[in-house]
Amino acid sequence: MFRVVGGNRLGGEVRVDGAKNAVLPILAASLMASGPVVIEDCPRLMDVTNMLSILKTLGCRVENLENAVRLDAEGAYRWEMPEHLSKSLRSSIFMMGPLLGRFRRAKVTYPGGCEIGLRPIDLHLKGLKALGVSVRESHGMILLDGARMRGGAVYLDFPSVGATENIMMAAAAIRGRTTIHNAARDPEIRDLQNFINAMGGRIAGAGTDKIVIDGVAGLHGVRYTPIPDRIVAGTLLAAVAAAGGEARILRARPEDLGAPLDKLRQTGCEIVEDEHGISIASSGKIIPFEISTQPFPGFPTDLQAQFMALACLAEGTSVIVENLFESRFAHAAQLTRMGADIRVNNRMAVVRGGKLTGARVHASDLRGGAALVVAALAAEGETIVENVALIDRGYERLERVLTALGGDVRRIDQEGGG
Ligand code: UD1
Repeated sequence: MFRVVGGNRLGGEVRVDGAKNAVLPILAASLMASGPVVIEDCPRLMDVTNMLSILKTLGCRVENLENAVRLDAEGAYRWEMPEHLSKSLRSSIFMMGPLLGRFRRAKVTYPGGCEIGLRPIDLHLKGLKALGVSVRESHGMILLDGARMRGGAVYLDFPSVGATENIMMAAAAIRGRTTIHNAARDPEIRDLQNFINAMGGRIAGAGTDKIVIDGVAGLHGVRYTPIPDRIVAGTLLAAVAAAGGEARILRARPEDLGAPLDKLRQTGCEIVEDEHGISIASSGKIIPFEISTQPFPGFPTDLQAQFMALACLAEGTSVIVENLFESRFAHAAQLTRMGADIRVNNRMAVVRGGKLTGARVHASDLRGGAALVVAALAAEGETIVENVALIDRGYERLERVLTALGGDVRRIDQEGGG
């Protein structure tokens, strides 16, 4: 649990690590490398640990270096995903592409992960079928046969991040050219392209809605530093906006945070971008705003909850529409326990701003949990946030980062001790 005492203004400088959502597919793609891969600046997160466990089970050698991970896939021999680990990590679905690339076959289970609505994988499977993979489903298992894989044209009905990445990885080391139309354009996809190309791959167009992958005969080892985490950066910016103060988020990249920075400016925060990061100054007075989550470069669904916490403090009514996931408002009920006035109707939340007061609340998912911490920093009195293991999936010791900024956040055990 976290014990947060609200009311401190935040200030100072903190630095963001490698992005979870960049590192996970990069680790998955490492399965296809013939030599060792070193990922620098790798965040120590539960999701990363789970992905490394999956790779170990498949026969990879994993070594934790200081602030880096070394992975050697030379001895990998298994193409069947371990069921218990797959269920604990939605991103285990990323293994379909690399397993097919490496072994031309794969057996995976339907994935687990955050409980934020139905998260089907039909687009992943449709894309793989377009590359000549035959797909058989039985008893919750998916059997993939890629013996006749070759490049092809894939049309995504929706720009799914995971499907785009999976297809890129599957296509990287097969014969022929693959074109993904209506691809997702997120910065993490461009990072995956850069990583695969650094291993000898030939991919172009990531960051646009058309990605062209020319399959190569093999991929080699590499040393690589993934992009910094835009969602962690955005969460910290929301925290400073909510609590008031002045801070600098080092390594945060303005080009990855266009929509959230625009919103923060609308709320009355002062934002300054420079080559080292993003600075924010907030009086703690929030002008109400409207948000509609969209695929990148629209407002990211992964910052919707944290900005809802901000809306709870605004001087007026804000409107938030969630378009990506159908049940991603679980944090609203918890914010209400802190005194928020939120009415949820399907995919829309109407938030009447005011004051928040400390309460005992429960993290329901990763980003929703982070939102409770943001709210608690600006609330009057003490908040207990339960179930922070979910927050740890995507934030490396969030309490330390916030303490460094002057927040009063402590990790305590269930009984309330230190
Ligand atoms: C990734 C991110 C996640 C973020 C999400 C949206 C990682 C590890 N996770 O998740 O943090 O919230 O992008 O930006 O990078 N969909 C289908 N069929 C499919 C695939 C997706 O209908 O085959 C739907 C999903 O149910 C969802 C929407 O498409 O409603 C977006 O999903 P997608 O972009 O695939 O998200 P993820 O890759 O799972």
